[in-house]
Amino acid sequence: MKIGLFDSGLGGINVLNELLKTYPNNEYIYYGDTKNLPYGNKTKEELLSFAKEIISFFEKKQVDLIIIACGTMSSNCLKEIKEMTSIKVIDIISPTINYLKEKEYNKILVFGTNRTIESHIFSNKLSNVIEIPTPEFVPMIENNNIDENIIKNYLKDYQNIDYLILGCTHYPLLIPYFNKLLNNTKIIDMGKVLIKNINLSNNSHNKISLYFTKIDNNLKSNINKIIMMNYSLYEI
Ligand code: DGL
Repeated sequence: MKIGLFDSGLGGINVLNELLKTYPNNEYIYYGDTKNLPYGNKTKEELLSFAKEIISFFEKKQVDLIIIACGTMSSNCLKEIKEMTSIKVIDIISPTINYLKEKEYNKILVFGTNRTIESHIFSNKLSNVIEIPTPEFVPMIENNNIDENIIKNYLKDYQNIDYLILGCTHYPLLIPYFNKLLNNTKIIDMGKVLIKNINLSNNSHNKISLYFTKIDNNLKSNINKIIMMNYSLYEI
């Protein structure tokens, strides 16, 4: 199967990594729109114009499935993206919402980008949700410059939370910090929930092609910390 995934940058690489753990033998084509990062501060019109570009890229590559490996695009543009193409499209947020609908809890905390939080996608579909924008997180992750105090500050009022949803696919790279700073909170990595909810076939071969709109050495070393398999890297 040929699977296309996209995000603004490293976030979707986390999702790809989760896919590779369960379904290593497929052809994966990744589109990282690093030139337009961060998506979390863009207008809906801007997001839609990036999405158009990306969908036409995947149509040319003739993928069988497109995974929106980005919380911002999933929360703001899912309907429009589905209308752009006849290829099957899966978003990253719905599986997490469906998973939590079945759970008992008192409070859920969501961290996400500005646009994701403003969409209220989580509080519209789940009860007792506190949604907090954490716009510093994506630049910290992409620039390899994590300030623990910023994370601590966001968490200081939320020690009695049952679930923390990482509403942006970049945020799993902060899990060691969340684990250190939270006691009894279960952390939801949307990529991991997605993998439990899809059923892909495994082919006999593995091929990973990563396309980015801007590549620098920092990006390469960040990818190598996440993906442990051979891949080809291209700038588009
Ligand atoms: N990783 C994306 C998300 O899940 C985009 C983050 C950004 O570029 O602001 O929202």
